[in-house]
Amino acid sequence: MLQLGLIGYPVGHSLSPWIHNRLLAQSGLEGEYQLLEIKPENFHQEIQKLKKSSLNGFNITIPYKEKILPYLDETDEAANHLGAVNTVKVENGRWIGYNTDGIGYVHSIKNRFPDLSFPDTRVLILGSGGAARGIFFALADAGCLKIDLANRTVDKAAALIEELNLKVKSSALNLEDAALQLANYDFVVQTTSVGMNPDTDAQIISLDNLKENVIVSDIVYRPMETQFLLEAERKKARLHFGHEMLWQQAVYSFQVWTNKKLETSQMMQEFEDKLKGVHHAD
Ligand code: ATR
Repeated sequence: MLQLGLIGYPVGHSLSPWIHNRLLAQSGLEGEYQLLEIKPENFHQEIQKLKKSSLNGFNITIPYKEKILPYLDETDEAANHLGAVNTVKVENGRWIGYNTDGIGYVHSIKNRFPDLSFPDTRVLILGSGGAARGIFFALADAGCLKIDLANRTVDKAAALIEELNLKVKSSALNLEDAALQLANYDFVVQTTSVGMNPDTDAQIISLDNLKENVIVSDIVYRPMETQFLLEAERKKARLHFGHEMLWQQAVYSFQVWTNKKLETSQMMQEFEDKLKGVHHAD
């Protein structure tokens, strides 16, 4: 019986139990995925308890993705480079940390655009926080050669480029310049919370200068279609939605725990319907 869960604070609104219980059912494995909410003041104590429990693997979310590091026995390359972990696999009592955030994002891009040539794609990342970090790393790892970062605080974009020191050509821009120079990019990804419920009228930059056929991606999934994506659609962009990333990150975590690679397109459709509020018989 697989014991899985999510550590974070707060975790009450997480979609992960819904997703992982579906993945468990599809895989034919017996198990359960539980929410493990830990208050910051109890973190050390609760983690020590979990070390002695029968947990087989877990996800980690805000605010513990960095705080978990001292408790791990090993980390994968992405987690090492990013200094953050969102998935732990327990193997013979050893805790192995992975970061599936950015890789899940790249999987979801490959899924939707199977013919995309990463080396020929000029990327613009909007934002320079934790989410941008994972996506920047994973797109470079997938073979992109030109990845610029635009941020409200341009110094943070420059600092991230310097810190990660990836083998790609990168410049830091402010948001005004990014909007003016949009025609230079084939792929634009919005990695901030701007546009998220309840502030759904907000949009990080105007897409006036966007070329046709550019891939435009937003990691916000509530609402599914943000103002940013609605404008991209009017500009004849190819859209990529936040829930696709969320889904593939979960699928990849599940694969880390079980070594099972599942066919999940049907389930992802159900997930989309759930987010849209469409009810299924179950
Ligand atoms: P996350 O881990 O979700 O990426 P974060 O690390 O707090 O969150 O990063 C938030 C990102 O959203 C940052 O790039 C932030 O810009 P600043 O670095 O200038 O703060 C960006 N952001 C948040 N609110 C924003 C807003 N209203 N307009 C533009 N950018 C915003």
